[in-house]
Amino acid sequence: MTKLEAKNIVKYFYHDSHKLEALGGINLKVEAGDFVCLIGPSGCGKSTFLRIIAGLEKPDEGQIMFDGHPITETGPERIMIFQEGALFPWLKVQDNVEFGLKMAGIPKNERAKISNRFLDMMQLTKFADSYTYQLSTGMKQRVAIARALVMDPDVLLMDEPFAALDAQTRDLLLVEMQLIWEKTKKTILFVTHNVTEATVLGNKIVIFSNRPSIIKKQFENNSPRPRVTEDESLLKLQQDILAELRPEVKKSRG
Ligand SMILES: Nc1ncnc2c1ncn2[C@@H]1O[C@H](COP(=O)(O)OP(=O)(O)OP(=O)(O)O)[C@@H](O)[C@H]1O
Ligand SMILES: [Mg+2]
Repeated sequence: MTKLEAKNIVKYFYHDSHKLEALGGINLKVEAGDFVCLIGPSGCGKSTFLRIIAGLEKPDEGQIMFDGHPITETGPERIMIFQEGALFPWLKVQDNVEFGLKMAGIPKNERAKISNRFLDMMQLTKFADSYTYQLSTGMKQRVAIARALVMDPDVLLMDEPFAALDAQTRDLLLVEMQLIWEKTKKTILFVTHNVTEATVLGNKIVIFSNRPSIIKKQFENNSPRPRVTEDESLLKLQQDILAELRPEVKKSRG
């Protein structure tokens, strides 16, 4: 079943009087339960594309369809996770995780039950009463993921969520993310600059061209899971992706 469909998404920005074409007509179908990794040169419009799907930004042309209906607004079924978790520093970890549930009017007992499950999944139970400044970057990112998952969204939109992490923490979260995906059956769109990360996570890998971006190529990835960064079976795919990506990155640097 098609969960999300981007139909000819075009987006311009204006820098003074200069028109900058970011997205040049993105067409993409995402099936329910897909784990799609988006990769492309810096500035090609990946974050813009995620924000449009989230309903945080409007396209100049085209439409995003969700379960067959056009999207015009934000909605709880599509939740975005940013590079830097963007947590509330005045709230404890557990209250950060429960924030959306509280806003939705879920009673305290129920909130605790749900948040405890995801704190446990993210190995944060011991830190439930800590403030976010007391956590490492990787732990904060796990809080941000837990905070999104408690809302039980259909679609998770993740914009370079692991970019600021050290390699060891990232490797752990790469495995964690695959387990969460298998357990929860979420549809995930995940932006990354890291080809290895894309091949470890994605069952589809989508290459964006240089601006004005279109989708240059899509790869399927059916290697057995859980995958790890050292998997040699992913090497060929990584080379194929790099061969598509390199010329685009070169063009983007003029
Ligand atoms: N609010 C804005 N106003 C003006 N220009 C913008 C705005 N947001 C994005 N842009 C421009 O649109 C283009 C795409 O930006 P975007 O952040 O989507 O790229 P990206 O692919 O996510 O890049 P990166 O990989 O570096 O995160 C860039 O050239 C950027 O300057
Ligand atoms: Mg970006």
